Amino acid sequence: MVPKTRLGIAKVVVFCLLALPLVLLGVDVWREVQLPGSAFGPDPTEEVLHYLGQWGLRILLLTLAVSPASRLLRKPRFVRFRRMMGLWAFSYIVLHFAAYLLSNAGNSFEVILASTIHKVSFAVVGFYALLMLVPLAVTSTRGWQRRLGPGWRKLHRLVYPAALAAWIHLLWLSKGDFMDPLIYGLVLVLLFGERIVFRIRKERRATAANAV
Ligand code: HEM
Repeated sequence: MVPKTRLGIAKVVVFCLLALPLVLLGVDVWREVQLPGSAFGPDPTEEVLHYLGQWGLRILLLTLAVSPASRLLRKPRFVRFRRMMGLWAFSYIVLHFAAYLLSNAGNSFEVILASTIHKVSFAVVGFYALLMLVPLAVTSTRGWQRRLGPGWRKLHRLVYPAALAAWIHLLWLSKGDFMDPLIYGLVLVLLFGERIVFRIRKERRATAANAV
């Protein structure tokens, strides 16, 4: 059993670490406002968009890594950080979407949304990934967990297609440079692979126990 205060401190540390990229971005935006060109290149919105997309995907994958890490390292308390991490991933992705809207600021919201949804592009896959994450963020509280019962776990499996869609989004927009999709893809394969192996073992154990 870990003392409550130690867990509380660990939560604050994880919170601060996850907030750090946003704080650093805030500092850069402030520097840019003070002196244009001092923090970003010629297209600040584009840079902010990329930065937030990268961090959104990183934290999403980190969130997915919590359960395998807790199993492999036999530290069940790691799962206590999962909700906070998922919410941070969602926040970065929402801000990434906001930066996308800002980069299209000349157009009306309806035009941007219509072109995002109907145009077959990397953006539409990203948009679907974001849509899949919305119910997860909304139902992340303990109250919703209780209300939905076993359905909560089923609903939260949406995180897998969402992560896959986010990866396809990245692969689609990588024009010729496939290093990032390769690395993120490898991480996804490992994370999904561990879950498949874990399920197979669990079912085998259950079958063996029933046979006794
Ligand atoms: C789960 C949701 C999403 C994730 C994890 C995600 C992640 C990413 C990542 C990692 C990049 C590449 C950044 C880089 O190359 O440095 C990116 C780029 C981009 N994303 Fe997303 N994204 C998501 C949803 C969206 C949505 C909803 C939109 C807009 C509808 C969007 C629009 C874009 C655009 C316009 C780019 C830049 C494309 C370019 O380089 O031309 N993304 N995203």
